[in-house]
Order: sequence, then structure tokens, then C-alpha cells
Amino acid sequence: MYILHVVGARPNFMKLAPVELAFKARPKVEQAVVHTGQHYDQNMSGVFFQELGINPPDINLKVGSSSHASQTAEIMTRFEQVVLQRRPDWVVVYGDVNSTVAAALVCAKLEIPVAHVEAGLRSFDRSMPEEINRLLTDQLASLLFTPSEDGNRNLEREGIPRERIHLVGNVMIDTLIRMLPAAKQKISKDLPEEFALVTLHRPSNVDDLSWLQEILSALSNVAIRMPVLFAVHPRTRQRLIDSGFSGNSAPGLRLLEPMPYLEFLGLQTKASLVITDSGGIQEETTFLGIPCLTVRENTERPVTVSIGTNVLVGRSMDRLIGAVNDVLSGRKKKGAGPPLWDDHASERIADILTGNQARESASGAS
Ligand code: UD1
Repeated sequence: MYILHVVGARPNFMKLAPVELAFKARPKVEQAVVHTGQHYDQNMSGVFFQELGINPPDINLKVGSSSHASQTAEIMTRFEQVVLQRRPDWVVVYGDVNSTVAAALVCAKLEIPVAHVEAGLRSFDRSMPEEINRLLTDQLASLLFTPSEDGNRNLEREGIPRERIHLVGNVMIDTLIRMLPAAKQKISKDLPEEFALVTLHRPSNVDDLSWLQEILSALSNVAIRMPVLFAVHPRTRQRLIDSGFSGNSAPGLRLLEPMPYLEFLGLQTKASLVITDSGGIQEETTFLGIPCLTVRENTERPVTVSIGTNVLVGRSMDRLIGAVNDVLSGRKKKGAGPPLWDDHASERIADILTGNQARESASGAS
């Protein structure tokens, strides 16, 4: 069985790592990794491969940044050649980035089966590019691996046959559990006793400069109470430059470069609270039991709110400040880890995919 994994952007890499590892242990499985090059900076890509112990990609399509349409089209054009040449039995795609949908669409046209890891998540907000990517990828995939029960319900409602959907748990949490001891080693001794950790990169938060200004003044306000460590994504960095924000006006608010996986995970474990618009960080904080304040109106990961430590503060900085006050005065959500977030999601995927292949071969032979 020959499997091609396709990854492209930062949040894909921690999902690939445990799945690739699980397949390594299976006999008669050959695999290769295609990196689309959607993310290309060392601190957005290379460092994750190193820290997570993934071999460098077998193929890099080097598409780089551009508009959604040209980035997606470029990935499709270049990836089609790889698929025609390598003829994989399965292509595995991850999450909801442009690389995910582009690879799935190429495979659907070439009749190569696609397995989607992290299927079924829905924010029901089609202004998010990721929601479009999720909806389309799930329609194109032959096997859909969901991290939580809500994913199964969403997919069934969209008409996906039940036998294609498998609740396997969360592969990102597989990685978190495996890397946690190493992450703790990276924690700096100079870290303040209390601090807020921040990441923001969604177009809806950073592309509108007046809204970004409001967020920055709220963060400056939080920084009066405790240090705020803000790991700045390249998109956000550009917008900060555009808006003329230097950070000097707000002592306590520290603008940092995007961080490697272990360093960031280490910081999450020690943070008093996390302020974010990332999807993965909502899940990681839930698993770690750290309060998470999400600057979005909705989430495609509702279990982090219903079971975990996540609070949606929406587009209201008053609510953000209120939620910060709640956490600092001890009114925190308790939270628990959702079912099957247990370090075995990748094993389940490898079991199902190899079993599926065996069944298909058997029926083909009869
Ligand atoms: C992408 C994903 C998003 C994910 C995020 C994680 C889509 C639609 N979005 O958004 O779901 O949460 O990755 O980071 O796929 N840039 C660099 N260096 C890089 C990569 C990007 O400087 O290595 C800059 C470029 O100026 C680029 C901008 O960041 O235009 C945005 O990158 P892009 O990949 O288009 O989208 P993200 O915002 O990173």
C-alpha cells in the first residue's frame, strides 16, 4: 500500500507527525510526504519538521504565498503531476488549509481515494476561507476521520454515507502528549509568574486595521495587569507594520516572532490564560486545562466550549476584558478532555486505513 501525505501550512505538521509514525509501524505500507510550500519560512515550517522528528518532505511543490485562487490553482497544477507519476493508493490530507482542498480536488478528478484527517468540523461561517475548504474536502473524501462526535453529526447531515465516517479522536493531541516532556524542558526560567499568551492571525481579526487597533488597545490594557507575550504570525506582523504599531507604547506587551512547536507548547502549560483565534490552540488549551479566550464569534471546535476551557468572546473587547478579569479573580471554567483525545487517534487511523485497503483488495479479487 502506497500512501501520499499532503501538508502545506503550520497547523498541518503536528497532525502529520503521529499519523506518519503510526503507518511506519505497519508492514507493507510505503509512504511519502508532499509539502506544498504554502508556508515556507523556517519558523513557520522547517523547525516543525525538526522538532517533531518528521523526515524532510520527499517533495516540495514550493508554491509560496499568493491570492487564494492562485495559491490553490498552483498547488493543484503541481500536485497533479506528482499523483500521475506516483499513483498512490491513498492520499491523506489534514485540516482545513488551502493545500487540503487543493490536493483533495486533484485526487477526486484522478479517482485516487482521499482520507481526510480532522473531518466534519464546522463553524457554519462561510466567510472563513477554512470553512469552504472543510465543506469541499469532506465532500471529496472517501474516508473521513473526525476528532469529536459533532463532526460525525455534521457529516451525516451533509449526506456523507455513515460507513465512510470514523470517529478516531484528535491527532494533534497525540502529538501534544508525546512532546509534552520535551516542551517542559524548553520552558525558560526567566518566565514571569503570571502572563497572558496571545496569537492572532485570522483575516477577520488582523486585516481590518481599525478592529486590529481595538484588539491592540485591549491587549495593552491586559498588559497593565500582567505581561502579555504575543507570538506574531507573518500576516499579523505585516498588518502591524501597516498600522504603524511598534509595541513601544505598551510596556508589558511583548511582540515575539512565531515560535517553534515545543517552545509554544511549553509556554501554554505555564500561561495564566491564552488569547487566540487559532483552531488548534483552542484544542490544546482544553486538553491542558488552561483558560482560553477566543476572539471569534464562532468555533468549528464546539467541544472546546461545551467540555473544555474555551470561552468565545466574539468581536467585543469589553467581553475580552471581562473574561480576563474572571480568570484573574479565580472564576475559571474547569473543563475536561473530550472523549478519545487520548494519544491513540493516529493508531485508529492506521488501523482503519490498512483494514479498509485489505477489504477492498479482497472484494476486488472475488
Ligand atoms: C493559513 C491557513 C489558516 C491557518 C494558518 C496557520 C488557509 C486558507 N489558511 O493562513 O487556516 O490557520 O495558515 O498559520 O490555508 N507568510 C510568510 N511566511 C510563510 C507563510 C506565510 O511570510 O511561511 C505570509 C505571507 O505574506 C502570506 C501571509 O503570511 O501572504 C499569509 O499566509 P497564507 O498561507 O496565505 O495564510 P495564513 O494566514 O498563514
